[in-house]
Amino acid sequence: MHSVRLITDNLYWVGANEHRLELFENIHPLDGIGVSYNSYLLLDKKTVLFDTVDWAVCRQYLENIEFVLAGRPLDYLVINHLEPDHAASIEEVLIRHPETTVISNEKAFMQMRQFGFGDVIDGRYDEVQEGDTRTFGDHTVAWVYAPMVHWPEAMVALDVTNGALFSADGFGSFKALDGVLFADEVDFDRDWLDEARRYLTNIVGKYGPHIQALLAKAGPLLPQVKYICPLHGPVWREDFGYIIGKYDKWSRYEPEVNGVLIIYASMYGNTESAAVALAAKLRERGVKDVKVRDVSNTHVSWLISETFKYSHVVIASVTYNLGIYPLIHNYLMDMKALNVQQRTFAVIENGTWAPKAGDLIREFLDKELKQMTVLNDELTINSHLSADNESEMDSMADSIADSVKSENAAKVE
Ligand code: FEO
Repeated sequence: MHSVRLITDNLYWVGANEHRLELFENIHPLDGIGVSYNSYLLLDKKTVLFDTVDWAVCRQYLENIEFVLAGRPLDYLVINHLEPDHAASIEEVLIRHPETTVISNEKAFMQMRQFGFGDVIDGRYDEVQEGDTRTFGDHTVAWVYAPMVHWPEAMVALDVTNGALFSADGFGSFKALDGVLFADEVDFDRDWLDEARRYLTNIVGKYGPHIQALLAKAGPLLPQVKYICPLHGPVWREDFGYIIGKYDKWSRYEPEVNGVLIIYASMYGNTESAAVALAAKLRERGVKDVKVRDVSNTHVSWLISETFKYSHVVIASVTYNLGIYPLIHNYLMDMKALNVQQRTFAVIENGTWAPKAGDLIREFLDKELKQMTVLNDELTINSHLSADNESEMDSMADSIADSVKSENAAKVE
């Protein structure tokens, strides 16, 4: 049974939802929320399909396409992004539609050959470059390159006739649509924002400067844009400033919230007690937004997403094999890989005979990451938080609270 939605005259969402996939890119948990693979079909004098879907949902996708085509030929297939979650069904679409011409760019065609689609595209492709346009009847589409958002071949396409911007991975989100089409049909801030942030920061977080470059290039086109059609998640038709503002902050590595994320690694609950005690002290000092996360039961994709969200991070770690607890080390390495920067840290270490984690974490933050501030206060716990630690913890809580408040004040000025 087909499942499609009309976006505007003659433009349909023909994508599909995936609920069985446990790990996106075989690494990021979907925890039962699923993900959508969006594809769009324009019916003009010619018919134009924008991108395809992951192989896992190809059957549903083909049903959707054939329903909307209603017997018409598929004249063009536009490929804006060649990652297989959007490109894996190219071959199947082209085998079923020998009349179709593929429109994409030089890098994407090279990648199509690498992925084994060479035979099926040969003799029927049309290469576009930045600024090129194609007219399909009443509709004219223009292309803008979007390198590294999120692969080198990525580009976005603007239908200058109806204002639909096909934004590739840009403005995408984890989470299946399940009948939703537009962002204004849901409480996005409450129900989607965390997944949109987790998607962007973990998938494209490393390429902040490239997102900034795309936002700068797309800025002059915005007055023409009436719909933002990403490859995952809902379509935007209003309140563009909200989602563009979020992307602008994330890609400049600026926090959304002046608050504190406390990430702890605890083997027997003693470091956990310290993390929770610090959270209480921060609350007592008027810090309104404090979140405590156990590194052992929180996937690193969430830790990364929340590190992008919060201005301050406390890492509380046991010493393990005379080093950093492995999952904390994994978090630090992921921050480095994703270019996370411009945050303020405090560090708590724990160790029964040779506490080492604190120095090693501070050294990593200083030497391996960019523009991180590490507060001077040090707190070393020997096995269990004791009355001897009280003054050091008060001092650390004072420093963090003062720092959060000074950033709040700077924001107001
Ligand atoms: Fe959703 Fe970069 O692919």
